[in-house]
Amino acid sequence: DWTPAHFVTDTVAALKKQIGDRKVIMALSGGVDSTVAATLISRAIGDNLYGIFVDNGVLRKGEFEQVLKTYKDNLHLNVKGVDAKDAFYRELEGKTDPEAKRKVIGRMFIEIFQEEAHKISGIEMLGQGTIYPDVIESVSVHGPSQTIKSHHNVGGLPDTMKMSLVEPLRFLFKDEVRRVGRELGIPDELLDRHPFPGPGLAIRILGEITPEKVALLQEADARYINGLKEHNLYKTVWQAGAILLPVKSVGVMGDERTYEFTVALRAVTSVDGMTADWAHLPYDFLAYISNDIINNVRGINRVVYDISSKPPATIEWE
Ligand code: XMP
Repeated sequence: DWTPAHFVTDTVAALKKQIGDRKVIMALSGGVDSTVAATLISRAIGDNLYGIFVDNGVLRKGEFEQVLKTYKDNLHLNVKGVDAKDAFYRELEGKTDPEAKRKVIGRMFIEIFQEEAHKISGIEMLGQGTIYPDVIESVSVHGPSQTIKSHHNVGGLPDTMKMSLVEPLRFLFKDEVRRVGRELGIPDELLDRHPFPGPGLAIRILGEITPEKVALLQEADARYINGLKEHNLYKTVWQAGAILLPVKSVGVMGDERTYEFTVALRAVTSVDGMTADWAHLPYDFLAYISNDIINNVRGINRVVYDISSKPPATIEWE
């Protein structure tokens, strides 16, 4: 009988055996998979697990601080937070093409991770949150001719890092990962998070990225996500987020004419992200959130709702 409790006991024992007294380095993203995998490894080897959590400047509002705190205070992981915002912004400057942005973020991430790895002596193993669908997908979807978007996950480290892998979730499906996470005492807040792309808000700011635009989008996105949670809608959708359009339009505020940015809101229902329907959020909620964003986020004077399904649209706009 598969139960989360048995899985934890068996896996921790197996990890102890596999790793022995070697050191493991692992990139943490704040996502479900890397968090559950790291917690399991940490149960087996304690502080011989070296977690690295990078602030790439395109995370959600407050995410870096909150997730780092959970890692340390709740899960007692040996994790280092690396603030690399400025380096990412520098490299992203002037980049407008979606794939170019993805490449920059993937390359920068690897550079920073390797730099951190070199600071720790005697690292021999690499932990990863690979789950079973990733194993299948890397065979079928990522064939050379079929990559529609080059999905960059924190797990995608280069072959040059020739270390043996530690992948405790390799045979689990997502719902099993969540159950194991619950068994390990990982907060629901973290386990029930919507998927969030590796390149983060960089692919939700259409066109060029600036720190000012990131701050604007973070504010709108935080209001949207909090609004969904407060109205008990967060769990009814598979993924949601706000997109900053490179479009300014005219508005009016008091006696003043405004000329500001537009935010598009996206929410979809889906099983695996391969196909998706736009979520039929209640009009009352849309009315509320539109006012909330426009009245409170200076720099945005128009909110639109994306009613496109996948296919032919994709979930992200870039
Ligand atoms: P699309 O836009 O292709 O998105 O319909 C499907 C799912 O994949 C996520 N996504 C990404 N995840 N790196 C990631 O790690 C990426 O470059 C990337 N692009 C899209 C997207 O958020 C959705 O969950």
